[in-house]
Amino acid sequence: MNNNSNNNLKKLIDIGRALSREKNIDFLLEKILTEAKTISNSDGGTVYLVIDEGKKLNFEIMHTETLGIKFGGSSSPVPDSIYPVKIYTDDGQENTHNVAAVCALKGKTINIDDAYINKDYDFSGTKGFDEKNNYRSKSFLTVPLKDHKNKVIGVMQLINAKSGDDIIPYSDELVDLVEALSSQASVALTNQLLVNEQKQLFRSFIKLVAEALENKDQATGGHCNRVPVLTMMIAEEINDDKTDYFKDFSFSEDELDELYVSGWLHDFGKVATPEHVMNKATKLEGLYDKIDQIKLKFEILKRDVEIAYYKNKVNEIDLDKDLIESELKQIKNDMAFLEHSNIGGEFMSDDLKNRVKEIGKKEIKINDNNICLLSEDEIENLTISRGTLSSKDLKIMQQHVVLTYTLLSKLPYPDHLKQVPFYAGCHHEKIDGSGYPNGYKGDKLPIQARIIAIADVFEGLTAPDRPYKEGYKLSKALTILKGMAIDGEIDSDLFNLFIIKKLYLKYANDMIDKKQIDHIEEKEFLV
Ligand SMILES: [Fe+2]
Ligand SMILES: [Fe+2]
Repeated sequence: MNNNSNNNLKKLIDIGRALSREKNIDFLLEKILTEAKTISNSDGGTVYLVIDEGKKLNFEIMHTETLGIKFGGSSSPVPDSIYPVKIYTDDGQENTHNVAAVCALKGKTINIDDAYINKDYDFSGTKGFDEKNNYRSKSFLTVPLKDHKNKVIGVMQLINAKSGDDIIPYSDELVDLVEALSSQASVALTNQLLVNEQKQLFRSFIKLVAEALENKDQATGGHCNRVPVLTMMIAEEINDDKTDYFKDFSFSEDELDELYVSGWLHDFGKVATPEHVMNKATKLEGLYDKIDQIKLKFEILKRDVEIAYYKNKVNEIDLDKDLIESELKQIKNDMAFLEHSNIGGEFMSDDLKNRVKEIGKKEIKINDNNICLLSEDEIENLTISRGTLSSKDLKIMQQHVVLTYTLLSKLPYPDHLKQVPFYAGCHHEKIDGSGYPNGYKGDKLPIQARIIAIADVFEGLTAPDRPYKEGYKLSKALTILKGMAIDGEIDSDLFNLFIIKKLYLKYANDMIDKKQIDHIEEKEFLV
């Protein structure tokens, strides 16, 4: 091996290493072209990727040194006015006129000494370009980029090999060298495309989960779509924050990806939560709202009183009409009270609960049996202190996070997503240990779990699409969040960042109803 070959080999090895390190496809393509240009001493070049299921070649990177043209990669994108090259014509025929298209079709290198003399391909576009830019495109080397299955995934075209000021044809030695570089480039490119494809597939899959939940319950679907948005807003702000709470900390690309996936999947377990619990609009709602049964029993009670009245009248027994009327009025009031209690709109004091219990003790006769007006189950539900969920319902609801963890743990994650089940499964934990399902304290809760927890609560409070509850205004939602920060339930640094960097407002402007956005005095909210 002579010195020259040795040098080339060393160069190729270095280039291979550099290419395999590049994770960003655009930068990788740019690197491929730059290295190929350098190694072949070319003035310009283009890298195309195959798109539209093999029908077209898209301009990804374009360089022409002497004209100072640089598009794609780290420079501005290739202008939209430069259309992709058709590999197949509109009527499905192979495009045999364009050299890059033929290179893609045949999977073979095409070396042209002078485009203006060449008769095999149509270079009229090139000539037009040259005329406009006072340039002379001469030697062309067009090589295919192939994946692990030998399928063409792109084309690299080098233009105008130089020797001093002269433009020369690409020598056989240069062709070998560029082809060797192209196969290395193809490996790196294929790897990145496969990684991207996998990422795309997984991202589509996680969005499908939110869509499945949306079909089950629209509000939960909306929640699952908004929590990752807020989660990433907070994470990106942490990365930008160089002056305040998180100046010494930032997330890597992989960590951001892991957090994004965790945010999307945090309520995955709700796929198994029964719909009648998830959508429980009233305290008595099960598979249907049992308030109607109670109304029927009240109707019986009322008629029993009325029948007794008329029976006594027939028997000419002395009647206290006022007493009967007040009894009927009481029945009406009691029913109205139960209907109101069923909504679960406000806190239920012990007095109110006792009133439910007292009403429940009244009896009616059905099939000659005396039965209580309210069953134990009805009393238990109607005396729910806050909201519409009984303690049994709450347990069922809380199960979703256990299931999130259990189900997500079954997936074989790549290394950088290994913590997804844990981060997602911790979103109802609180720093003071009062959360569920494990009661983990702060020392066990990484920042990722803390971010999702804040996003989860804030979204829940401000959700604009809950059917039975209006989304809170910003001032009310932030007051609740502040209370949680003071009580040590959520991370106070994150909460302060949320306020100082106006993340609450940025999120609100994008995601909630305008009428919920009221002014807050930020200083008053800092913890
Ligand atoms: Fe949850
Ligand atoms: Fe949630």
